[in-house]
Amino acid sequence: MALPTADAAITRRLYTEHQEVRPLVEQVRTVADALDRPPYDLGPVRGLLGDLELRLLAHERAEEAELLPIMARALGGAEATSGLSRTHAEIEHQIGRLRRTVDDLLQEAEAEDVTDVRRLLYGLYAILRLHNAQEEEAAFSLVS
Ligand SMILES: [Fe+2]
Ligand SMILES: [Fe+2]
Repeated sequence: MALPTADAAITRRLYTEHQEVRPLVEQVRTVADALDRPPYDLGPVRGLLGDLELRLLAHERAEEAELLPIMARALGGAEATSGLSRTHAEIEHQIGRLRRTVDDLLQEAEAEDVTDVRRLLYGLYAILRLHNAQEEEAAFSLVS
């Protein structure tokens, strides 16, 4: 299926951005893995969270606003994109939860607090990996 030229250009730009945030997604797992033993330093989690809010959420919001309408036009309806849209909302929600959880903790956290943070990070990682695979299959395959 061929996209109209303007839509293809937008989709290609978002695909480039999508690829650029991949290392950030992998970092979610790396940061979670590193919290496996004391002392639990939450510095890397805070740094990662800032990047997720600044770069990843900006990317997901751009996809929601620009990519999903293109897909809906190309594939004939919003049903084709409702799953991706729901996942965008879930990513926002999970990053918000992580932010609230981390803000409640001191720099040197207790083991049980860290368990919560790790659980949120691994959950977010799983959602992001699945979401990215679905975007690549459903949307970016149109321009790659
Ligand atoms: Fe993406
Ligand atoms: Fe996305």
